[in-house]
Amino acid sequence: MRGDDPSRSGNTVGLVARSATTRLPADAMSPPEPIIPGPGRIRQNEIYGAGVQGHTPAVPTDFLTLERRARRRARRLGWAYAAGGAGEGATMRANREAFDRWKIVPRMLRDVSRRDLTVELFGRTLPAPVLFGPVGAAELLHPEADIAIARAAAAVGVPYVFTSQACASMEACAAAMGDAPRWFQLYWSTDDGVVDSFLARAQAVGSEAVVVTLDTTMLGWRPMDLNLGSLPFARGQGIAQYTADSRFMEIVRERIAAVADAGADPAAEVKPSLAALRTLYSISRRFPGGLLGNLRSPEPRAAVQTFLEIYSRPSLTWDDIETLRGRTKLPILLKGIQHPDDARRALDAGVDGIVVSNHGGRQVDGAIGSLDALVEIAPVVAGRCRLLLDSGVRTGSDVFKALALGADAVLIGRPYLYGLALAGEAGARDVVRNIIAEFDLTLGLSGWTSLSELTPEALRRL
Ligand code: FNR
Repeated sequence: MRGDDPSRSGNTVGLVARSATTRLPADAMSPPEPIIPGPGRIRQNEIYGAGVQGHTPAVPTDFLTLERRARRRARRLGWAYAAGGAGEGATMRANREAFDRWKIVPRMLRDVSRRDLTVELFGRTLPAPVLFGPVGAAELLHPEADIAIARAAAAVGVPYVFTSQACASMEACAAAMGDAPRWFQLYWSTDDGVVDSFLARAQAVGSEAVVVTLDTTMLGWRPMDLNLGSLPFARGQGIAQYTADSRFMEIVRERIAAVADAGADPAAEVKPSLAALRTLYSISRRFPGGLLGNLRSPEPRAAVQTFLEIYSRPSLTWDDIETLRGRTKLPILLKGIQHPDDARRALDAGVDGIVVSNHGGRQVDGAIGSLDALVEIAPVVAGRCRLLLDSGVRTGSDVFKALALGADAVLIGRPYLYGLALAGEAGARDVVRNIIAEFDLTLGLSGWTSLSELTPEALRRL
């Protein structure tokens, strides 16, 4: 299924510069064989070339340095939200340990001069099997947030999965991306009208797939946020998708009217304090319209309250998933699958894809590593739908391992968010370019030339 026909590969963004190579007769005077620069060499040349001019890369090329520098740059609340995990962080560690247990066994002398990283997903050929995953409330790390990420993804030519918890509406993000691929991630609201409205908007802005996140019907226990008493959404951060939605705003206005009919003052319960005023300002600044009007209006605060109550549905079951096909024409992926029986159930429901994910270890502490889950799920799926993985992917060799173990592509979360924190759009872009570059080099240096060749045979489990 993956990259089946290299001749059809539609690289759009210069990640893989293709140049025809003709082997010349073995003649002492013949020019040397031309080098075919894949994304790995292109990126190395860029970085070393800039080095000659005295420049070092805007984002570190290894994850540990990237993380350390992003941590220094980020504000306290932003770092807690982005870097934090559930509970004691055991699932985040398990994600990394799962990758560490698998080792690549490089093979030699197999002509790896041409490498094809392309993968076809839902009718679109992507230059590499890497997506920008959905991350909410990104403005905590950089003010340009989703718009910067949208532009970064468009520059790389791989999809950006718009999050339901965006700081800019999907319409605004789509407008920043030209024809570049975009998907939409859905949190299933308790209001089906909001679900249908989001799905219709996603289709209207050209999303090529819908990713329904199943693992966050409630927010996990996240001590780094809890210890600061910090919930971005309560400050109006990360709810732009909702405040731009006509059905959602209809609910908000109905609730305001109901409170007014009951003769209550919606603001009466809030004790005036500096923190409360700061929150009010934060909410009003982000709500559509002018700041002064928003400060006087009950709508911004009611929108936050409404969001907190209806954004996700803990009662969600497989019966709801069965209704999805009737709600959207887009390919449907389920994100958060960790058990092979759930993968079977997803296949029975006729979904187009599964994202093996534990939300970057942010939901259930002590859960299995996502790559461990992939190992059990891949044989169940056996090519019957698209199989993606996220949680813990940090390097090109992680991408290699995930693909060898059956994934068609991976989603990146925190790494590009950290790039965003350090250098905005260019930072997010370069982090993903670096991962793709390292993947390209790892592929070739391990003796492989296309994704379809990768199987567990390329690895050893220690
Ligand atoms: C997320 N993730 C996420 N997932 C989702 O479906 N909708 C969302 O709004 C968010 N928001 C979000 C915010 C932040 C700050 C993070 C770090 C993550 C989960 C995300 O899509 C992905 O599953 C993980 O980030 C992958 O793990 P790594 O790469 O961060 O380890």
